Amino acid sequence: MTYLLAVDSSITGPDSVSRPLVAEFADAWRAAGSDRSVVSRDLAANPVPHLTTAGLHYAEAMRRPHESVEPAAAELQRQLIDEVAGAAAVVIGAPMYNWSIPSTLKAWLDHLHVLGATTSSDEEPGRLAGIPVVVVSPRGLAYDNSVPEQAGDYTVPAIEKILAESMGMNVTSVAVDFTLADRLPPLAEHSATAAASKAQALERLRELARTL
Ligand SMILES: Cc1cc2nc3c(=O)[nH]c(=O)nc-3n(C[C@H](O)[C@H](O)[C@H](O)COP(=O)(O)O)c2cc1C
Repeated sequence: MTYLLAVDSSITGPDSVSRPLVAEFADAWRAAGSDRSVVSRDLAANPVPHLTTAGLHYAEAMRRPHESVEPAAAELQRQLIDEVAGAAAVVIGAPMYNWSIPSTLKAWLDHLHVLGATTSSDEEPGRLAGIPVVVVSPRGLAYDNSVPEQAGDYTVPAIEKILAESMGMNVTSVAVDFTLADRLPPLAEHSATAAASKAQALERLRELARTL
């Protein structure tokens, strides 16, 4: 049996854009093989704690004497990393909240990113290197960090920095733009763009689920 780890972090309940897209991806991934299952981690319903010591950011051999780690905190971190390490692929619902990722998602990423353990270098791949990750990132507006006036997306670049650049995971990101077009009157003119963006995202996610 091989599993997809499906991570949600949205707090918008029935309005959520990322949750149904993560679920669609999971369904398509499951349907692509009879030995496939899905493990879900809902960081909004069951948040992981914030790091309480820098010791959790470093492999044991790199810690300073004052950076002692409580056994329970070390055990939780081990479980979270093992859950990713055992996955054939990971899908992450990463909505934009205040230009950044939900703090619950940040706390989970903080647990995974451990220098000397999960980070990759030229000499040695990190423990999670090579695992495919699909990031689903809806946002109320639209952002293009290559254009200064439209910059402001600190979701996808931050996740890619941690998981791909530092840890060597194989990250593909799928953004959904203008999801607030049906809620904020000044954005109503972008309704068609919003619908197209969502449809494109769904198509891309189904394709990724089949081919990963
Ligand atoms: C707490 C909060 C903060 C938000 N901040 C932003 C923001 O900074 N920029 C933006 O474009 N949209 C923002 N939005 C809109 C969300 O990105 C949008 O509703 C998106 O679809 C959320 O995905 P979800 O429904 O899966 O949670 C915010 C929404 C919430 C609830």
